[in-house]
Amino acid sequence: MRVCIVGASGKLGRYMVGHALDRGYEVVGVCRPESAGKLDDVRDRIAIVPGRTDDRTAIAQAVAGCDGVLTVLVPWGVQDYATGTAQAVLDLAEPGARLAFSCGWHISRDGKDVYSWKLKAFVAVFGALARLARFADLKDQVEACRRIFASDRRWTVVRGSNLEEGESEGLPVWSRHVGDPILASNRTRRIDFALFMVAALENDELVQEAPAIVSCRSPSALQYATPA
Ligand SMILES: NC(=O)c1ccc[n+]([C@@H]2O[C@H](COP(=O)([O-])OP(=O)(O)OC[C@H]3O[C@@H](n4cnc5c(N)ncnc54)[C@H](OP(=O)(O)O)[C@@H]3O)[C@@H](O)[C@H]2O)c1
Repeated sequence: MRVCIVGASGKLGRYMVGHALDRGYEVVGVCRPESAGKLDDVRDRIAIVPGRTDDRTAIAQAVAGCDGVLTVLVPWGVQDYATGTAQAVLDLAEPGARLAFSCGWHISRDGKDVYSWKLKAFVAVFGALARLARFADLKDQVEACRRIFASDRRWTVVRGSNLEEGESEGLPVWSRHVGDPILASNRTRRIDFALFMVAALENDELVQEAPAIVSCRSPSALQYATPA
C-alpha cells in the first residue's frame, strides 16, 4: 500500500508517518518547505514533497499512485488553507483512493451533535479572537469538511477529542455523535488519533463516516464500549 500524508511534519503527521511505516506502507509526505527538517529522522524511509498543503501542484505530485491519503486539516491563517487543502485532495487523489481527514469535535456532519457549554464557549471565543487576529479561521475548517461530506469519494472525517501526549493506549473507540455517553471522557492520546487515521484506510465500515473518537482506556469508553 502506498499512502500520502498531507501535513506530515506536524505532531499528528509524524505519528501517522510512524504508524504507516510500522505497517510496511510506502509513504509520501507533504509538508511546508520550512518544516521539512522536522522529518530528518525518517528522510531515508519516506519520499518528501515540499509544499504548502493547499498547493495543487505539490498535492498532484504527492498523491499520484497512492491507495490512501491521510490529511491533517488545520484552520491556520485566513486564506482558506483548510478548504484549499481538502479540495486539492478531493480533486487530485487517485479514483477509488481511501481518504481520511483530521479535525476536531466542533465539526458536525448532520447537526445532531450535542456540545457542552465549555466547547461551545471555546469555539465562540477562540473563533472570534483568532479571526480578529487573522491567526486562524475555524469557519474554514467547517467549509473544508462541508465539501468533503458532499463528495462521493471514499472519505472518512476523523473528529478528535481533546488531545494529550503519552504512550499508546490502543485504537480509540468511536461514535457518530458528540454527546453520546461513550465519548464523555473527551480525551485521546495524539499517537492513537494517528493510529485511528491510519487504520481507517483499511476499514470500509468507516467509508463516508465522521467518527468522533475517544481513548479506549478512558472511563467513558470502559463503561459504555460493547465487548467485541
Ligand atoms: N490540538 C488539539 O487539542 C486537537 C483536538 C482535536 C482535534 N485536533 C485536530 O488534530 C489535527 C492536528 O492538530 P494538532 O493540534 O495536533 O497539531 P499538529 O499535529 O502539530 O498539526 C499542525 C499542522 O499545521 C501546520 N501549520 C502550523 N502552522 C501553520 C501555518 N501558519 N500555516 C499552515 N500550516 C501550519 C503544521 O505544519 P508544519 O509542520 O509545517 O508547522 C502541521 O502540519 C488537526 O486536524 C486538528 O483539528 C486537534
